Amino acid sequence: MKTIAINVEKGGAGKTTIACHLAWILADAGHRVLFLDLDRQCNATAALAEFESLGTCKPLFEPRYSLPASAPRLSIYSNRMGGEYDADYTKALGNIRANFPQLGPAFDFCVIDTPPSWSWINFAALMVADSLIIPVELGPFGPASTKQVSDSIATVNQRGRTKPIHVAGLVANRVKANDRAQMEMLAAIREKVGKNLFTSYLPDRAHYSQALQERVPVWRLNKDVRGSLPAMRAFLEEAMTRIGSNG
Ligand SMILES: Nc1ncnc2c1ncn2[C@@H]1O[C@H](COP(=O)(O)OP(=O)(O)OP(=O)(O)O)[C@@H](O)[C@H]1O
Ligand SMILES: [Mg+2]
Repeated sequence: MKTIAINVEKGGAGKTTIACHLAWILADAGHRVLFLDLDRQCNATAALAEFESLGTCKPLFEPRYSLPASAPRLSIYSNRMGGEYDADYTKALGNIRANFPQLGPAFDFCVIDTPPSWSWINFAALMVADSLIIPVELGPFGPASTKQVSDSIATVNQRGRTKPIHVAGLVANRVKANDRAQMEMLAAIREKVGKNLFTSYLPDRAHYSQALQERVPVWRLNKDVRGSLPAMRAFLEEAMTRIGSNG
């Protein structure tokens, strides 16, 4: 099982949009996909209509976890937690680390959507993931969010992992190609992170929002999506290559 976390502390950067589309393309390719919706907003849970609920993700944070015997090919755990581990989250972190390998034989991929702002839940996601995709919004606080995520990566690599997490890359989201300030910001990010920046990016398109609202990927939206589909396809193809899962 390959596990991909989508994480950045910045709210509204595109984590859920990207995580759901990644899950959908993997599902369409026939893979067995587990989705971990670790955000209490549960926006991904609402969008992923064809994923069958395994209920709350709480058992993953408890000792003696066991995966339901016949977990559906497309399964989802949702963050229906009420802060019960917040006071002593080290046990919860130890438990998910010990439990996670049990999921491996049942699924080909695990996609993890994470909440905005830092918490031990984000630490858990970065601890168990193989690869990380970081969406960046080209607004005033976008570049600062990349600094936060690199600090988090350093901490988790030092304290929570035996092998450093693979950074699949940063992807610019909500890009307006005719916005000069954005293009300059994109060039500055490329200058700083080099090949860690995806060559593809996601433009600012209402279709991506509509797709999640209608609980379908943009390629199943009942609209003329010629202006928004190619960029999503190009991004997903690059993402698959970067996580080492093409073909
Ligand atoms: N490329 C895009 N073009 C237009 N709208 C977008 C794009 N990406 C995301 N959005 C919209 O912006 C909002 C935030 O996106 P999304 O929910 O994916 O971000 P998030 O990082 O998961 O947010 P949160 O931090 O609240 O979990 C949503 O309404 C979404 O539909
Ligand atoms: Mg989200």
